Amino acid sequence: VESVIVAIDGPSGTGKSSTSKAVASALGLSYLDTGAQYRAITWWMISNGIDVADPAAIAAVAGKPVIESGTDPAAPAITVDGLDASGPIRTQEVTSKVSAVSAVPEVRTVITDLQRSIASAAAQGIVVEGRDIGTTVLPDADLKIFLTASPEARAARRSGEIKGSDVAATREALIRRDAADSSRKTSPLAKADDAVEVDTTDLSLQQVIECVVTLVEERR
Ligand code: C5P
Repeated sequence: VESVIVAIDGPSGTGKSSTSKAVASALGLSYLDTGAQYRAITWWMISNGIDVADPAAIAAVAGKPVIESGTDPAAPAITVDGLDASGPIRTQEVTSKVSAVSAVPEVRTVITDLQRSIASAAAQGIVVEGRDIGTTVLPDADLKIFLTASPEARAARRSGEIKGSDVAATREALIRRDAADSSRKTSPLAKADDAVEVDTTDLSLQQVIECVVTLVEERR
């Protein structure tokens, strides 16, 4: 079986992570969560007292943290300077600051290089999820998927994941983050011209997974 590279992009709450992990598991591929890497570098900035409102301060230290990502879809691990970051990267503080950090070009260069080296090391192939994978990180991917869903569906899914959260507040935070990610200068969230757009609003997770698995098998 030939190695295959699958790029899955889209805004938050579209089911990117659940879909990407399930597709990778079903097809025996590696998996990379690039959002987790931007969250990890954001956690490092916060922990080291870097003002995330100061792009020059972020740029000056962008190359310092050592970020390592596991590629097992059943147990996606992430460490920063050897410390397990999987819990800390999911806090509300990191979520609210990650767009400011990920917009800094020096951060994107460091993380993009890391992503490309992980993808080229995956012998069986890999599913890479993010915002700019099809457009910038892996423009030669064998299959590019762009997942979308209505803001209501996305907010409902996200607040379902976060205990005790309210849908309206989640919706506002999500729209703000997507607007920041879509309007930044360096590799914004965007659909690649050759990506297949899948609107997941009225689809179950199982239906989205089946749809993507079929598309991968067609290109393999
Ligand atoms: O996917 P997730 O919500 O964990 O991504 C967190 C943040 O990381 C996004 O809001 C975005 O700012 C950044 N990101 C990015 N490029 C990617 C993946 C994520 O800028 N390829």
